[in-house]
Amino acid sequence: EKHGFRHFMIKEIYEQPNVIRTCLEAYINPTWNEQNTDLNPINLGLFDLLDDIDHVQILACGTSWHASLIGKYLIEQLANIPTVVQYASEFRYAPSPITTNTLTIGVTQSGETADTIAALETEKQRRLALPREYRPRLLGITNRPESTLSYMVDQIINTQAGIEIGVAATKSFIAQLMGFYLLALDLAYRRQTLSLEQIYRIVEGLHHLPRQIETILEKQEKHIEDLAHEFNDTQDFIFVGRGINFPIALEGALKLKEISYIHAEGYPAGEMKHGPIALLDSKVPVVAIALPGKVYDKVLSNAQEAKARDARLIGVVAMNDLEATHIFNDLLSVPEVDELLSPIIAVIPLQLLAYHIAARRGLDVDQPRNLAKSVTVE
Ligand code: M6R
Repeated sequence: EKHGFRHFMIKEIYEQPNVIRTCLEAYINPTWNEQNTDLNPINLGLFDLLDDIDHVQILACGTSWHASLIGKYLIEQLANIPTVVQYASEFRYAPSPITTNTLTIGVTQSGETADTIAALETEKQRRLALPREYRPRLLGITNRPESTLSYMVDQIINTQAGIEIGVAATKSFIAQLMGFYLLALDLAYRRQTLSLEQIYRIVEGLHHLPRQIETILEKQEKHIEDLAHEFNDTQDFIFVGRGINFPIALEGALKLKEISYIHAEGYPAGEMKHGPIALLDSKVPVVAIALPGKVYDKVLSNAQEAKARDARLIGVVAMNDLEATHIFNDLLSVPEVDELLSPIIAVIPLQLLAYHIAARRGLDVDQPRNLAKSVTVE
């Protein structure tokens, strides 16, 4: 039921704060605090699956692949484990060379995506007869504990987002991101790559996210709906971000193209000058994710390069960022959070933008043409 919302997609966007609350309630030890050094704050129940890992490889498709790119960033930066992310459809025919003590993570909200299942099966089969250090260790991150994926892996992180009906993944994406934050923290605690105080700060930050997303929904949706009206004739969009928000640029572009049928590309902002900048003129809006953190200045200077080509510049920026008001033509303002947590905040206005552009065009937002909710054929 849509409970008064016009489409399932917008209803599911609004469910995201509660999806985060559910995850935190399920997987953070309630009795944990900074002083309690002997208790792992994260309670994913993964036991020895995570012991002595040298490598992580992540296999996924579509939006789940975008979540995996952020997962790689988190696992590498917080737990210091080399991590690769592969498209499942590519991996299944060209698996990378086999490595020791490797955790393989299959990420699929439906748990039924044919390529992801086949890629995991390939990985499992080629490791089965090998010595112990090569044995398959398979973890699933899924929204469906009863799925094909769930039965073929050793353990799952159940993302508990509830059924998602809109073909465009929104709340299931946020839930996958939560799965990766918790997994990276679990690994960081076990390997002592972060201090307890650092873990405490991140966990605290995660607890603030639901309220912060509610603020965006309350304060920005109307503004984004109005802004969407200005793109009635737009045929191309570029999304740029850097670092932990590069995958959010990809996700913003995918959301827009799948439901509005507008051509959209996501790029790491620093790559623009290596080709894509040739596309820019006054008809191609550029959405830049320019949030406080290590790459903020770099994104702003990349945005200015786009502005010099007459592009209309839309910035996903922090609410109190005055500098941004001078650079961007339009602002999608969000609460300021630690850079590490910013993808969860940055994606919300991009989901809303895609939704309102598509809804404005009168398109079938929940069932876009040529797409299925779960892709069970190759
Ligand atoms: O069920 P999965 O997470 O494996 O689905 C993977 C993709 O098909 C899916 O994310 C697709 O890209 C979505 N429609 C994106 O919104």
